[in-house]
Amino acid sequence: MDKVIAIDGPSASGKSSLAKMLSEKLRIPYINTGSMFRAAAFAAQQKNISWENESDLADMLEKLNMEYKLNSDGEFDLCIDGTFPAEALRSSEIAAGASKVATYPAVRHALKLQQQKMKNLGWLVMEGRDIGTVIFPEAQFKFFITASPLERARRRLAQEGDKAGGSLEEVAAAIAARDEQDSNRPVAPLRPAEDAELLDNSSMTLDETFNYIYNKVKNAVL
Ligand code: C5P
Repeated sequence: MDKVIAIDGPSASGKSSLAKMLSEKLRIPYINTGSMFRAAAFAAQQKNISWENESDLADMLEKLNMEYKLNSDGEFDLCIDGTFPAEALRSSEIAAGASKVATYPAVRHALKLQQQKMKNLGWLVMEGRDIGTVIFPEAQFKFFITASPLERARRRLAQEGDKAGGSLEEVAAAIAARDEQDSNRPVAPLRPAEDAELLDNSSMTLDETFNYIYNKVKNAVL
């Protein structure tokens, strides 16, 4: 079994906040794999490589230096070719690009190898779409977090305001479109692992979700 807490689920389900809280409380690294797909889309945009061109994207990723660096707060920040693009990665345009490039097997393969290497870090919490199914099928803990599209749109608007990309209905529609693309791609689609615990937190607070998971994992990790 791998010493991994895998947290999968659709966008804006609260995965990132949850994974961050677990990492702080358990004092273990937190890896947000969505950032890596966003970084691939962002780097392609910077280099004028089309999000439609799988082989150019794969060539780019082979040369790109993408790594997580520990910052002074003890968090891992994604670094691409020496720069930290965290802010630029949050836009709804880059989110859509990430979802597009994430449909290509060659892109997923390049990032998978990097994600799997991270188990050298010891216990870690890794968040994404296919951590429990593809990246770490032997993870000791697997959770699949979800919530209704409307509730997720509300959370996204509360968190990102103008950057969320529109009204409540528009954001909910963009979230539903991204769910559709993520769930229906042939490679590593968004779905719970058979042995994952499903948690619909539509009517739970973040603290309630956190406490639920923390109580399940703490004895094994601490
Ligand atoms: O989690 P986040 O919204 O940052 O992810 C951006 C996009 O990256 C998702 O819509 C999804 O298409 C893709 N992704 C993925 N597999 C992961 C993490 C993210 O396909 N493990």
